[in-house]
Amino acid sequence: MTGDVRTIEWTGGALRLLDQTLLPARVGYADVGDVDTLVDAIRRLVVRGAPALGVAGAFGVAIAVRQAAREGWDGARLDAAIARVREARPTAVNLAAGVDRVLPFVAQGVDAVVAEAQAILDEDVRGNRAIGAFGADWILDQLGADRPLRVLTHCNAGALATAGWGTALGVVRELHGRGRVEIVYADETRPLLQGARLTAWELDQAGIPCVVQADAAAPSTILRGLADVAVIGADRIAANGDTANKIGSVGVALACAAAGIPLVVAAPWSTVDLAVPDGAAIPIEERPAEEVLTWGGARTAPGGVGAFNPAFDVTPARLVTALVTETGVLEVSAGATPSAASARSAVAARR
Ligand code: MRU
Repeated sequence: MTGDVRTIEWTGGALRLLDQTLLPARVGYADVGDVDTLVDAIRRLVVRGAPALGVAGAFGVAIAVRQAAREGWDGARLDAAIARVREARPTAVNLAAGVDRVLPFVAQGVDAVVAEAQAILDEDVRGNRAIGAFGADWILDQLGADRPLRVLTHCNAGALATAGWGTALGVVRELHGRGRVEIVYADETRPLLQGARLTAWELDQAGIPCVVQADAAAPSTILRGLADVAVIGADRIAANGDTANKIGSVGVALACAAAGIPLVVAAPWSTVDLAVPDGAAIPIEERPAEEVLTWGGARTAPGGVGAFNPAFDVTPARLVTALVTETGVLEVSAGATPSAASARSAVAARR
């Protein structure tokens, strides 16, 4: 939810998605009641951002169960439909994790699936508030500055990318609430402009000062000393702390390391994939060539030239200064990996 606009909501028989392809020109919604429409909405980024995809995947199972009853599907057809939702986009682990979490409830019927999906949604909003507070505390403590901060962010890791409040932008919202944001540099985020269209829209709605810059400007902004900290989200975090996020994130990370400012990754534990040992094993989505070869429907590259269009990159753990989750902060580049932290909490839980 951003202001009184809800990103994703179950309306009783369908999933209502804020159609992010329409922003910032207008606020419009898509009501999704069948699997084909949901898979298409996920692929076109009507709904996007790792945590929001997790919620969409969970409710997607409810959509599939309802459709199966309506259209008389057998079990194999239902399983195939659920698998299509689960695999609609490969990089954000939250999508598959959201589907997997509600699967045990299918046997109890659609209401049980919806209840678990709603629990994922509610946990996400609560978790983001905690991420915001932990992140703001850590940044203010580290920087020790008594002036408002200049924050750089990449892509959109805000309320639009989650069930509400946001992860990276949750930290920004918290800092702003404490009077500690001078300006946010929002990278425009080529090729689909999630920064220019979505982050700038969200920050503007919240009254948080922001400027949009070309992605190529980000390393220079950092090296010129114009940013105090970079805060980004994540799509999948490997056990060793390697972090997949929107293409262009690794350039931000390299510049932060060179300039000696912190790179903060803000993400819930649902984005951590302990089954993946390191970034090399994270699947990277490649998107259609048209996204980089055309602009406003017109071709910008010569005919016959192809495109390389990876949607995400992997920032090595050594460049991630801090990972802020809903349970606290891991100083990853100093050796605090997600796998070590989860092993410690498992020990604590057993005691
Ligand atoms: O392709 P998108 O728009 O789904 O990519 C989104 C991102 O890369 C976000 O930074 C990430 O999912 C974190 S959202 C809290």
